[in-house]
Amino acid sequence: MDRATDFIHNYSSQIQPYLPYVVVPLGIYSVYKVLCRLIPGPHHQQRLVLRDKTVLITGASSGLGRALAFEFYKKGAKLILTARSLDKLEALCDELEQAGKSYGWKNPHKPVFRYLDLADLNGASASQLDDLRQQSIDGRTIDVLVNNAGQSVRGSCIDTPISVHKQLMDVNYFGHVAVTKNLIDAIPDDGAIVVIGSMQGKIAVPYRSAYNASKHALQAYFDSLRSEDRPNLQILTVSAGYINTGMGARALGPDGRPMGTEDPNQKAGMSPDHVAQSIVEGLSDRKTELILAPFVHKLAILMRIFTPNLLYWMMYRRGRNDPHRKME
Ligand SMILES: NC(=O)c1ccc[n+]([C@@H]2O[C@H](COP(=O)([O-])OP(=O)(O)OC[C@H]3O[C@@H](n4cnc5c(N)ncnc54)[C@H](OP(=O)(O)O)[C@@H]3O)[C@@H](O)[C@H]2O)c1
Repeated sequence: MDRATDFIHNYSSQIQPYLPYVVVPLGIYSVYKVLCRLIPGPHHQQRLVLRDKTVLITGASSGLGRALAFEFYKKGAKLILTARSLDKLEALCDELEQAGKSYGWKNPHKPVFRYLDLADLNGASASQLDDLRQQSIDGRTIDVLVNNAGQSVRGSCIDTPISVHKQLMDVNYFGHVAVTKNLIDAIPDDGAIVVIGSMQGKIAVPYRSAYNASKHALQAYFDSLRSEDRPNLQILTVSAGYINTGMGARALGPDGRPMGTEDPNQKAGMSPDHVAQSIVEGLSDRKTELILAPFVHKLAILMRIFTPNLLYWMMYRRGRNDPHRKME
């Protein structure tokens, strides 16, 4: 009996110094869990099951939008795909149905496609978007709106003409605002909006000012929206690093024309399929924010707060190698 008491006594005095390392994190975790129950937010919604849900994707004709179309179709969603390239959208719808048959995805909903130019705000007007809504499963409800379409730019702050800044804001910002404003009433409380932002919507990099600014604006608009009328509605903002989609070749140069050459950073970037999978997982898990980027890119977000001059110096060094920099 004495030996047992001694053992317990020795054992408890040995583990005592380590107890705070367990108790403090457990306490913080419990407080966090209690707070989560008290505060509103999409975490109160059930896990999002995409089967028989209507998903509308902008910019579905290539890159990430196309990869997302496959991912949502695989899960059994009814797709409404939009972009300007109708030939590519038509081919994509055929490919989706073919893949569904080959891989046994069992999706009974025929994907549909429509022309939508985000730079044409009259095109994104209520009457035009009403047609999109009518393509949904019940003719009324868009369960998930994916604001994905986007365009990039190359050129210095000084050389980029105002017309290019306006074009980028139209596609990357005003277009998404117009679509969202006109469709938000069709999105039920357990639905969601996915916003494809960028790491450049968190951290501005040199020689991409119009793109950086439009993505910062996009993040700000949706941050405001989620803190207004419907705090439980899931708005998932995705800030991705480089994705290998060839977007750099379509980026506008200072003359307003596509660059035509691929961006080496994007070529070495993540695969669009991998990014699409992570987005759909995060969406189903009811996340609010996804940062899909290497650790050093995430570190830059903290550096901007705590050591801004160091970050801007590093950006300056990076900009010195940019082909759009004027040689001294
Ligand atoms: N690639 C990257 O490294 C990267 C990194 C982070 C975030 N992102 C973001 O991911 C999203 C998708 O980009 P991506 O890489 O997949 O580029 P992408 O392959 O060039 O795709 C862009 C899509 O947007 C559509 N689009 C362009 N202008 C449009 C307009 N005026 N109206 C309607 N649709 C328009 C294009 O279709 P049409 O030309 O047929 O209209 C295309 O389907 C963008 O929001 C981008 O900012 C990309």
